[in-house]
Amino acid sequence: MKLLVTGGGGREHAIIKRLGKEHEIFSAPGNGGIAADATIFPEIKATDVDGQAKLAKSLGAELVVIGPDDALALGLSDKLLDAGIPAFGPSQNAARLESSKVFSKDLMKKYNIPTAEYTVFDNANAARSYIETLEKFPTVIKADGLALGKGVIIAEDRAAALSAISEIMEDGKFGDSGNRVVIEEFLSGPEISVFVITDGINTVELSSAMDHKRAGDNDTGSNTGGMGTIAPNPFYTESINKETNERIIKPTITAMRAEGCPFSGVIFFGLMATADGVKVIEYNSRFGDPEAQVILPLLAGDFAELLEKTAHGKLAGYTCGNNDGNYTACVVVASGGYPEKYETGKLISGLNTKGQLDEMPDVMVFHAGTKFQEADGKYYTAGGRVLGITAKAETLKAAIDRAYEAVGKISFEGMQYRKDIGKKALLGNN
Ligand code: AMP
Ligand code: GLY
Repeated sequence: MKLLVTGGGGREHAIIKRLGKEHEIFSAPGNGGIAADATIFPEIKATDVDGQAKLAKSLGAELVVIGPDDALALGLSDKLLDAGIPAFGPSQNAARLESSKVFSKDLMKKYNIPTAEYTVFDNANAARSYIETLEKFPTVIKADGLALGKGVIIAEDRAAALSAISEIMEDGKFGDSGNRVVIEEFLSGPEISVFVITDGINTVELSSAMDHKRAGDNDTGSNTGGMGTIAPNPFYTESINKETNERIIKPTITAMRAEGCPFSGVIFFGLMATADGVKVIEYNSRFGDPEAQVILPLLAGDFAELLEKTAHGKLAGYTCGNNDGNYTACVVVASGGYPEKYETGKLISGLNTKGQLDEMPDVMVFHAGTKFQEADGKYYTAGGRVLGITAKAETLKAAIDRAYEAVGKISFEGMQYRKDIGKKALLGNN
């Protein structure tokens, strides 16, 4: 099949590697490492919906796989559909599940899907008055729109909550995304990421995963896009899986249909297993990054066929070996300073010309922010998150150890990574 993969991060590299060599794959913009597995178009951004649609048409792509949330929120899927090109990824309306916290919270309330109690504000003074009445802290403040995964503030006390309101609603910290905010109850418990592929009616559940969002070990430091993942998530027990299916997955898919915006693509359920049952922390309308790097290598079935059937609304009766019984771990190596200011253009040592590790061919090196320099055949850093080093093994411990062994073979100036990816999962406590 001829496929165009929209995006240029570790997630898209994982999608492309899992699709495999039997397909003809293009990627826009792609990145240095992706270029080893696909033909890239670095000048066409993921958010350039006209450019992406034009490219898909000119390539004669049979399927476009849309990686990032912002392209979906801008309506790339609808644009492709209008041009007669099948796309894996929800319509702009369905992508509101992620692109508007107010939409998703209201949907959950209307359809009785368990989530944190919340109130919506479009006025800073009203939000402040509400915060003055709160008795319990921390409280959680969320910008309505997309904010690069940074639109959530856990305010430890009243003063922090009040200043978050000023920053989001008055100082424009997240631009228009902060015109409305959701203030919600703080929940606690292990976090679980669950991935469900759906054509709007039928579903195929992939592996669960656990992310590590903070920059530093033991969950310290700033929130990032994700510093590492493991799969499956040991907190996703059989009984929680059942509860999630009955109370969250099925009702969400039915609700989207009832609202006139059936969801076709992958729903990433960000869940928390609270003492009060499993609750939705957030929905995403795409694969996670770096969750894709651990769940896709576990998928036993035919990935391209799964994506194609989804795009064509033909998942009825389709079963796809969703997990091969192994475990995976991904350690993200990032530029010094990420997620704040960082430098790029640093030479990455340890990679071969294909961007992989010669001595460890079983380890998958997914490129998130790299550039390949033809002149010397070397890779250079080109982003905050640079590589996602993923290993697969029969036990979680072996996968984690192997991933760290591989990280030890790679270096660049300022390289940083967490040393405790998977530690909580191994200990089995939160
Ligand atoms: P989100 O961008 O919605 O995934 O939120 C980022 C992170 O904030 C989540 O992964 C949680 O760790 C945390 N978070 C979000 N909402 C809540 C909540 N209601 N209670 C506790 N933590 C939360
Ligand atoms: N790793 C979290 C995300 O993709 O949103």
